[in-house]
Amino acid sequence: MTTILYSTTASGLGTITLNRPEVLNAINLQMRDELWEALHAADADPGVRVVIFRGAGERAFSAGADISEFGTAPSVVEARRARRERDLWGYMLGMETVLIAAIHGYALGAGIELPMCCDIRIASDDARMGLPEVGLGYIPSAGGTQTLPRHIPPGVAMQMILTGDPIDAATALRYGLVQRVVPRDRLYTEAEALAKRILAMPADAVRLTKRAIIEGVEMPLPDALPFESNLAQRALTIRGVT
Ligand code: COA
Repeated sequence: MTTILYSTTASGLGTITLNRPEVLNAINLQMRDELWEALHAADADPGVRVVIFRGAGERAFSAGADISEFGTAPSVVEARRARRERDLWGYMLGMETVLIAAIHGYALGAGIELPMCCDIRIASDDARMGLPEVGLGYIPSAGGTQTLPRHIPPGVAMQMILTGDPIDAATALRYGLVQRVVPRDRLYTEAEALAKRILAMPADAVRLTKRAIIEGVEMPLPDALPFESNLAQRALTIRGVT
């Protein structure tokens, strides 16, 4: 792998670093493929229970899809194939592994859509998040039109997407797009501290709870409550309480 770095620790923490700092970690097809491989490796490894995403370099988590791949015939065909065969964003939303995004600098287009497929987002105070696709004549297609209005009020999401104007970290915190804002030099320490707290929790309880929240939130409440009961019963059974 060259466009991403993937490492794991014995304590169960995986780290995926988007690693094209010379182009602000723009996500090209190779990076998509390598993310796909790393995420499958993480989810298949019972030793990895939390993954932190970060961006290499000082300036960006990621400036989004690689615009140098736009508009070339082989690339459009390739991009469609990649999307059809490898639904990266859908896969992330279904993972058992807990995903944390540590966002600094620019997080634009797919560079904020990827964090929106994570479970928890921490930003540094220099982060700027936006969806510039409409201004380029596209629509967000890494899930952004669907995930953003599920994270923040729909009217705010509509304004962000239709104007393309980025928001700063404080605004993102106010709307709940990120759960914490920390000074830039504390970003990874704080993300790792959070990961360690989750890793210290009983693994099955974390796994079942994540499932209860992610799947349950899409259900009508009368269906979601028995769904939760079922998972709660499973957690009790695993703990040997009947
Ligand atoms: N795809 C490919 N390359 C990108 C990129 C992207 N999405 N975003 C930045 N880069 C490259 C630039 O081409 C430049 O490369 P170069 O040094 O070879 O010229 C390098 O990253 C640095 O970016 P630059 O534009 O010079 O930095 P800046 O500080 O002037 O502006 C941004 C930063 C993020 C505002 C600007 O790069 C930008 O608008 N990028 C595109 C964002 C975007 O539209 N993303 C969504 C695509 S759907």
